[in-house]
Amino acid sequence: MRILSIETSCDETAIAIAEFSGPQKSPKIKILSNIVSSQVKLHAKFGGVVPNLAKREHQKNLPLVLLRALKEGRFSISKPQFLISNQIQKSLPGRQAGKVQKIEKILGREAELLKQFKKRIVPLAPPKLDAIAVTYGPGLAPALWAGVNFARALAYLWGTPLIPVNHMAGHLYSALLQASPRHSERSEESNRSFGLRPQDDRGQYDIVNVSFPALALLVSGGHTELVLMRGHGKFKILGETLDDAAGEAFDKVARILGLGYPGGPALSALAERSNQLLVTSNKIKLPRPMLNSKDYNFSFSGLKTAVLYLTRDLGLQKTKKLRPLIAKEFQDAVVEVLVSKTIRAAKEYKAKTILLGGGVAANKLLRERLVDTLKKGMPLALCYLPLASLTGDNALMIAVTARFTGKKKALDKVGADANVKLGD
Ligand code: KG4
Ligand code: ZN
Repeated sequence: MRILSIETSCDETAIAIAEFSGPQKSPKIKILSNIVSSQVKLHAKFGGVVPNLAKREHQKNLPLVLLRALKEGRFSISKPQFLISNQIQKSLPGRQAGKVQKIEKILGREAELLKQFKKRIVPLAPPKLDAIAVTYGPGLAPALWAGVNFARALAYLWGTPLIPVNHMAGHLYSALLQASPRHSERSEESNRSFGLRPQDDRGQYDIVNVSFPALALLVSGGHTELVLMRGHGKFKILGETLDDAAGEAFDKVARILGLGYPGGPALSALAERSNQLLVTSNKIKLPRPMLNSKDYNFSFSGLKTAVLYLTRDLGLQKTKKLRPLIAKEFQDAVVEVLVSKTIRAAKEYKAKTILLGGGVAANKLLRERLVDTLKKGMPLALCYLPLASLTGDNALMIAVTARFTGKKKALDKVGADANVKLGD
């Protein structure tokens, strides 16, 4: 089964193509391409993602990223020359002209995308695919719609079934992809030329055969959730954040400390430098919000406010000097709460597998503490962390999720849902 997947829920335009073979429950995967075009530099100027700007960029990038993904996957997509020159709607033979009309309808709200689609995608020979998977939510509505409508237009043009996928399910399934010893490195050079994040995910990967029940801690910029999984696609949210998501808290505290956007990586790098400081301060103590609450919910907004008050009390000079200590204490607080609640839930629900996913899963301390604490408290449970290159938003995780949980849907019934929850 060959799946092309599309992800545009936030500020990454991502397309992957993956081929699955073998048994239903424990398939093998071959990654034909995995492209992520990041807009992060563009949004950094505004200190966060601007939804309509993200949409505009997705519209511009999607056709290019698709062409790149097809090229990487070595698909032969060029049509005979006479057809290429016929790409303008008016000169197309009747049936194809009708097709273009329908595509114009599907992409009616995506003017820029429609232009590019007609120019670059309509003339292609349809690649051999079994399904197109697309993230339909949760995420930023305008960004999601660009990807969803692009996927609908493609599915229509190529006559390929469409599978809508939940973005958080994607982060959950990202942990199932583990580098196989056979895996071949992709050239850094080709990444740079396209402004991509370094990837290490071409070639053969192994997919973990999950023992259920599984428990997943999902931590991203928009969400923080503990999810119980009794089988593939059977999700139950045990708890979630009542206010800011973990990644959002990292970003906001980073801003308070004068670091750029996105703040997570910068803040954890700063925290790591704290042991090089010769100064200590017993003033730097932050709360562990909801650590002892009986439920599995989280709250990080108070922690952010505590950092704000702390820096006010310390004043500019001292804050500057003690920044690495503040960053470390903040990171310790977030990680302690996340890990403690995950272990407690894992024990209560007798989880056999623990999974981690989402942008904050890149955090080194979180990864280490989760594994260490599990080793001590639940030595028989298996813990899978996503590869560093798959912690952020990517389309590969959407293809894997579609393979395990996907349900085909008529393309007119597929739409973006910015607030959809796992298990809905
Ligand atoms: O999953 P993701 O790429 O996008 C969403 O779906 O939201 O998550 C992005 C979030 C950002 O808030 C970013 O600051 C955070 O993940 N993040 C980190 C680290 N790397 C990224 N947070 C803490 N430590 C990191 N190393
Ligand atoms: Zn995400």
